[in-house]
Amino acid sequence: MKLILKILRRINAEAEPCWQSVPFETDDESETVATALAAICDDGHFLDTAGHAVGVIRWEHSCLQKKCGACAMVIDGRPRLACDAFLREFSRKGTVSIEPLRKFPVVADLIVDRSILYENLKVIKAWMHGDAASTGKAEDRNLAFEASRCLLCGCCLEVCPNFAPGERFFGAASFSIVSRLLLELPEESRKELRKTYMRHIYAGCGKSLACRDVCPAGIDTEKLLSRSNAVALFRR
Ligand code: SF4
Ligand code: SF4
Ligand code: FES
Repeated sequence: MKLILKILRRINAEAEPCWQSVPFETDDESETVATALAAICDDGHFLDTAGHAVGVIRWEHSCLQKKCGACAMVIDGRPRLACDAFLREFSRKGTVSIEPLRKFPVVADLIVDRSILYENLKVIKAWMHGDAASTGKAEDRNLAFEASRCLLCGCCLEVCPNFAPGERFFGAASFSIVSRLLLELPEESRKELRKTYMRHIYAGCGKSLACRDVCPAGIDTEKLLSRSNAVALFRR
């Protein structure tokens, strides 16, 4: 399998981005964008199609198993985890474009600064204030469990028409975590969460559900939204 990896590169946050086309060849069907990036960086001698040295491509990764969310980037126009994007998907076309997520400031090459995700969780105070209640409905417990799979990768924010960093609406990444608390905490601990949920999630979500279609953790944001809205709006 021979592919051209078209990588959007930038030496630092201030530099102008430019595309670099890197030929890559493999017989391994299990090769992903992540393993290809790792191979190029490890080798250190790759040349692009113009004969220039590729050098080290800056990108984030950890688990390489769809578990940490670090390797989120835009692959062929779609936000995805690089460790879950198999090169064989692009073999017929012969090229694959690889860009950093676009809703966050770029640090270098494919690395973006996603700290706004954590800042938003601080605003919401999305942490436990007491023991979790396991007395709720089984349906709510299952939903909370599903929400706990959120990787905070930011893929959902990339496609969300209503999210922009620093704005009041916090997007699906935050509501996955807040919903989990809303569904698990005892009634007396939900008061503050209800207010922040209404202000930063309920009031801004257009229910377009683009987030559901790209979530690599498979979180059903439609189901989660509708149940969390009900819990936030009504006491029973
Ligand atoms: S449903 Fe639409 S507006 Fe709401 S978080 Fe998902 S993508 Fe954004
Ligand atoms: S909801 Fe899904 S897409 Fe959004 S941050 Fe969590 S895991 Fe990523
Ligand atoms: S490296 Fe952890 S999800 Fe891809």
